[in-house]
Amino acid sequence: MDQNEAPVLDALDEYHRRERYGFTPPGHRQGRGVDERTLRTLGIDTFRNDVLASAGLDDRSRGNRYLEKAQQLMAEAVGAKKTFFSTCGSSLSVKAAILAVTGGTGDILIGRDAHKSVTAGLILSGLQPRWVRPRWDDELHLAHPPSPESLERMWQRHPDAAAALIVSPTPYGTCADLEAMAEICHARGKPLIVDEAWGAHLPFHDDLPTWAMDAGADICVVSVHKMGLGFEQGSVYHLQGSLVDPTRLSQCADLLSTTSPNVLIYAAIDGWRRQMVQKGEAQLGRALELAGRVRRRIEDLPGLHVLRDELLGVEASHDHDPLHVLIDVERLGISGYRAADWLRDNCGIDMGISDSRRIEATMSLSDDETTTDRLLEALKALIAAAPSIPSPSRVELPTSSDLELETVLLPRDAFFGPAEVIPTEEADGRIAAEQVTPYPPGIPVILPGERINRNVIEYLRTGVEAGMVLPDPADPSMQTIRVVQQ
Ligand SMILES: Cc1ncc(COP(=O)(O)O)c(C=O)c1O
Repeated sequence: MDQNEAPVLDALDEYHRRERYGFTPPGHRQGRGVDERTLRTLGIDTFRNDVLASAGLDDRSRGNRYLEKAQQLMAEAVGAKKTFFSTCGSSLSVKAAILAVTGGTGDILIGRDAHKSVTAGLILSGLQPRWVRPRWDDELHLAHPPSPESLERMWQRHPDAAAALIVSPTPYGTCADLEAMAEICHARGKPLIVDEAWGAHLPFHDDLPTWAMDAGADICVVSVHKMGLGFEQGSVYHLQGSLVDPTRLSQCADLLSTTSPNVLIYAAIDGWRRQMVQKGEAQLGRALELAGRVRRRIEDLPGLHVLRDELLGVEASHDHDPLHVLIDVERLGISGYRAADWLRDNCGIDMGISDSRRIEATMSLSDDETTTDRLLEALKALIAAAPSIPSPSRVELPTSSDLELETVLLPRDAFFGPAEVIPTEEADGRIAAEQVTPYPPGIPVILPGERINRNVIEYLRTGVEAGMVLPDPADPSMQTIRVVQQ
């Protein structure tokens, strides 16, 4: 195929050249009806290019196959058998993958460090999660991806499970040994799904961690908007091998998708693929060099430490993406939450992750010396201001065994069954009917169907006091919690 083509982008140009006009949604008619104040902020081109996908950009039977060709080009670019684009984020793609590998009941093996969108997949599918234990680091208070050995142990215990689902890279950029995991799954004739939401760039540079399809995964889900250059919500999922039926996968995605996909999102994915094929190696090479320099310069700043070596090892992560610059601020006497708030309020800089002791700058190939100098200046200002930032209230960090909650009910049954709201301090021993997820990074601490323990309650309660954000429970302040009725 000609990787210089970008079928969706070209079709948009053609649409405008022909001066097409639709008596169809969207009602803004390429921006004609939108008032000046809105246009001042969003720009007319945003609306001009927001056209209906079929009976608009393409004809009503999608006879020109613009999207299909763009997907084929992407599959060829990364070496997948088939690729699908989604305008509903990896949150949809992950759910579609879960639904596609199951017959609606049974077990699925999942790393317990999975993203909250996986919980939605479990609730919708009615599957029983069999959790694969991550490698908890009790010193760093961080979960490394599960090891191949723990995946093998779970397959021995649950040989009839439909598939395994592993997150790699994690939001911290740490990676699992996917090659070994794919071998373990395939020895049993079972598919490996990799949630590679943070790995859009991996296929395009050899110095980055191995990307899931090269490692042998069957389905790989990618957020193009995270480490790629797509619009928010742009996601692709790739398929290879014969263990997952492509028609079933796309039908499962269809169950969850919108019927009004945003063409801008498709177009940006299309353009990004072409850019990566033609310039990705050079641009990512420069980004990696820049990230190396930034890491060294931050490490030289007093009170800051950039993590890398301690993230890697037999009992830690298999690999790490250096574009995730994870900075420990503990020696400044402040928490990661407060550091992130201070940088936003005083320097206009937002950080990727903040937790009780760290902040993360996620670098992209769009960064250059100007943006990284701004980060470095902001960090210097943070160091100077640290003595005046209130010292963090103590977060009662649980041990790894406290975090391994017992799954008592199917997530679906706990979520949809009779529930009651009780004071959180009385929830020790009760079964959760909702999920509780610190965001970012979006890894649930409590899932529907899990038995809550006192130490986890204390962690969340003190975490909220210290600045942790819990967007999904009914009561984000954690004064109360939804539990299964006794
Ligand atoms: C590991 C992981 N999977 C899936 C998702 C969902 O991706 P999206 O935001 O594209 O829906 C995220 C989002 O942060 C994530 O971190």
